[in-house]
Amino acid sequence: MTDFPKLRLRRLRQTEALRALICETSLEVGDLIYPLFVGEGRGLRQEIASMSGIFRYSVDLLPQEVKEIAKLGIPAVLLFGIPEYKDEVGSQAYHPNGIVQQAVRAIKKAVPELIVITDVCLCEYISHGHCGIVVGDEIDNDKTLPLLAKTALSHAEAGADIVAPSDMMDGRVKVVRETLEEAGFHNTLILSYAAKYASVFFDPFRNAVESTPRFGDRRSYQMNPANWREALRAVEQNIAEGADMIMVKPTLAYLDVVRTVRDNFNCPLVAYNVSGEYAMVKAAAKHGWLDERQVILEILTAIKRAGADIIITYHAKEAARWLLPR
Ligand code: PBG
Ligand code: ZN
Repeated sequence: MTDFPKLRLRRLRQTEALRALICETSLEVGDLIYPLFVGEGRGLRQEIASMSGIFRYSVDLLPQEVKEIAKLGIPAVLLFGIPEYKDEVGSQAYHPNGIVQQAVRAIKKAVPELIVITDVCLCEYISHGHCGIVVGDEIDNDKTLPLLAKTALSHAEAGADIVAPSDMMDGRVKVVRETLEEAGFHNTLILSYAAKYASVFFDPFRNAVESTPRFGDRRSYQMNPANWREALRAVEQNIAEGADMIMVKPTLAYLDVVRTVRDNFNCPLVAYNVSGEYAMVKAAAKHGWLDERQVILEILTAIKRAGADIIITYHAKEAARWLLPR
């Protein structure tokens, strides 16, 4: 053990140059994924009430938006669709000309090199807002699986590079992988929402996509916020079933889970800095209670320090502007 004054940690913190030299974590635009909400109609660019600075776009306005995103150096977008028509079986989720399928084609045409990731779930498309088929008062796991597989395949057919199942049904990664292989989509990646918690931090998102369950809650399929060992089992299972990348979600109250997953698995790890985390920062910044730029960069750096390789964040565009080489 080195003792004072031989050891003075402040020697290392004296100047900007020294501080930069010993910096342990780097935050780069190339690590960020920007979520995009796509709605029906034309000429639509509508701010989402619960998420200031985030908009819902119609497909015709996407090319302009993704060109800006790509110009900022952001390598990937994650798509969510908001269909006008919802039914009991979420048929718009896997319609070849559904809102997300149209969006994927438009984006790939406008900026072919931008990585397009699609959220694969039924909740935005299903009338009751749950992530699976409802039988009685239960969310039926096995009846949901073929519809998820169909949805993922239709996204791949539209040109998605990565499909991201977020429903938390058991066996979804397996059926999605099998379906993609059978259809010849050997190179479509699966980013699985492996450890997804039943979290109140998704509330602003549900307001955005109108997917709040009409009855009950998501606790029979999403994880209990009290558990971390279960997260390791879920990640292990998802990798075994064929996930190329795994996700922990939400992030800020779950950085211990991010760290533990990083320490136990070598698979690329994505952290989703979710809507509620974004909304809290925006609300505080609006009141002048926190410096917006500083708090966002601190949060994103902390997520990387905890072990995430990649961050999905609604802050991606603003962070990209601050991170661009000066
Ligand atoms: C759909 C889905 C949700 C989110 C991503 N995909 C909501 C939910 O599970 O209720 C949340 C994203 C966010 O809060 O930013 N299953
Ligand atoms: Zn869902």
